[in-house]
Amino acid sequence: MLRFSLRTKLILSFSLVIVIGVFLSVIIGISLIGNTIIRQAQDKVRLDLNSAREVYQKESESIKCLIRLTARRFFIKDAILKNDTEKIREELQRIRKSESLDILTLTDEKGYVKVRARNPAVRGDRLNDGIINLVLLNKQPGVSTRIFPQEELEKEGTDLAEQARIKLVPTPKAKPREGKVEVSGMMIISAAPVIGYDENLIGVLYGGKLLNRNYEMVDKVKDIVYRGEQYKGRDIGTATIFQGDLRISTNVRNADGTRAIGTRVSEEVFDQVIGKGIPWIGRAFVVNAWYRTAYEPIRDIEGKIIGMLYVGMLEAPYVDLRNRVVFIFLGIALFGVILLSIIAYYTTNSITRPIKELVFATSKVTDGDLSSRVKINSHDEIGELADSFNKMTTSLSKYEKELKGWAETLEIKVKERTEELESTQKQLIQSEKLASLGKMAAGVAHEINNPLTAVLTFSKLLLDDLDKDDPQQEDLQTIVDETLRCRDIVRSLLDFSRETKSKKISENINNIIENTLFLIEHQATFHDIKIDKKLSSGLPRIPLDASQIKQVFMNMFLNAAEAMSGRGTLTITSSYDDNKFLVINIKDTGCGIPEKDINKLFDPFFTTKKVGKGTGLGLAVTYGIIKSHQGLIEVKSTIGEGTEFIIKFPVKPLKFEER
Ligand SMILES: Nc1ncnc2c1ncn2[C@@H]1O[C@H](COP(=O)(O)OP(=O)(O)O)[C@@H](O)[C@H]1O
Ligand SMILES: [Mg+2]
Repeated sequence: MLRFSLRTKLILSFSLVIVIGVFLSVIIGISLIGNTIIRQAQDKVRLDLNSAREVYQKESESIKCLIRLTARRFFIKDAILKNDTEKIREELQRIRKSESLDILTLTDEKGYVKVRARNPAVRGDRLNDGIINLVLLNKQPGVSTRIFPQEELEKEGTDLAEQARIKLVPTPKAKPREGKVEVSGMMIISAAPVIGYDENLIGVLYGGKLLNRNYEMVDKVKDIVYRGEQYKGRDIGTATIFQGDLRISTNVRNADGTRAIGTRVSEEVFDQVIGKGIPWIGRAFVVNAWYRTAYEPIRDIEGKIIGMLYVGMLEAPYVDLRNRVVFIFLGIALFGVILLSIIAYYTTNSITRPIKELVFATSKVTDGDLSSRVKINSHDEIGELADSFNKMTTSLSKYEKELKGWAETLEIKVKERTEELESTQKQLIQSEKLASLGKMAAGVAHEINNPLTAVLTFSKLLLDDLDKDDPQQEDLQTIVDETLRCRDIVRSLLDFSRETKSKKISENINNIIENTLFLIEHQATFHDIKIDKKLSSGLPRIPLDASQIKQVFMNMFLNAAEAMSGRGTLTITSSYDDNKFLVINIKDTGCGIPEKDINKLFDPFFTTKKVGKGTGLGLAVTYGIIKSHQGLIEVKSTIGEGTEFIIKFPVKPLKFEER
């Protein structure tokens, strides 16, 4: 598939229009010239043939007239009657010369030659000519054209035979013919009766002109009809008399400028005019060029075709005219195509340059450069296109910016939500875990509680019954103590699983904190620990089981003291959160809790302390108590720096002043 640029396409299509237009003009022009000018020329030639015929007939008529008038003259009658041949000969010879006749002959009343003016030596022969026989028969003068064979010409003199003798010249397109020389001649011949005083026929006067090499008539036609007009040194108009197909009198010229005597007519004209007797009107090749021609037959007295009369006009001027018109049209077309190409080059430039710019800008946009703009100031469709392209890229880059912004905030939001979800999930898992642990613990505690009560009751009874000095008393006391410890554990488990009933009354949390601190402050463990209280005043009262909450704080403070190994700062803060929570922060400067332990912190029996030192139930119980108060407990810890427990209790506005 051929690919053309926009410019080439425009130029090609414009040129096509011009070329088609010119092609049509050339065709129309040629046919116009052909139809009008050349046809007019042809019509003129047809008329010219009439003129030529007129000239030929006039010549015949004048010969006839001359013969008729001469035959009537008295000197002839007198001389015949007196048999004065010498006188006749002198007179006829004088007339022949003055009238430029080629032959002039007097015969007797039977047609035998009496006086042959041109060649008096030959006489007495019978003239066997149709025209003489006609005169002998009806005593009327006549004229016609006739072929004279060589011997008849020679009777008139060898010079006449020589004038008639024509060498055949090889002619292209002519019909092949035998022989190389034409020795007979063609003459216009006339005869008139010589009438005696008693109205008897006493002789026949007979005379004529040889047409061979006699250019009088053809040049007359040329002068009358064509006024000797020339084209490129050539006569435009030509006339010819043919003897058969042979040019015997013509002004058609050979290439060397001599008259084309001896050349012959083309075969097709020969066949039509001589063969069929039909005049030829049309184009014909004459000697060496094309002519617009007209031919018609010349007949003898018996109507036999013996030659042709021709007129023709050189075709070259018309052909050249036509060619000139074609060249002018082609020149106009070429000029038009060139001019159009130049104009199209510049106009298409003004079209394609902004398009190229647009294409370039578009490819930049495709590569992601949304800042690309086009500067086109043309106030047309392309200008509009450029405008909307610029608008498009502007809004594209605006949307891109917005999109980027959205993507960023989305990322942040997703991160936040993911973190929230993760912590919620952790809490959920934690509380789920603790809930199931609680159920199990409760089950175990209930099952153990009754047998334990029995063991305790009976071992106590046994101990009461035993003597003070009984060696078994110590063992029994151990049983009672350990059983009591078991009962404490069971109780703790029940606290953790929130099975123990709490008695909630409206309390001030700060009071509970103070009371707990009062209990432990004087213990040896807290001697070297600085206790920092930041208790907010005016906190709302909330429903609490004071002894349980006291237990919670006790656990917290003890754990902190242990984590700080008896040295450090314990900060206790109470505050009121806007989200309707009472918040208590218990912060120590202890060892901190490793990340892996955070999740297990509230599990029952999780401890990092030595066997016998810790039970791992402290935080579990704490958790259970806070849950049963619809509260929350959270841990934040950093290894080596310390731990902070945050406890939140919901403040229910309805129960705000409840007691
Ligand atoms: N304030 C704290 N600082 C460091 N670790 C603590 C703190 N409180 C609790 N712990 C850790 O939590 C574990 C569980 O505590 P707890 O339930 O009270 O059981 P116990 O005190 O009997 O070990 C402790 O063994 C300790 O490792
Ligand atoms: Mg503890």
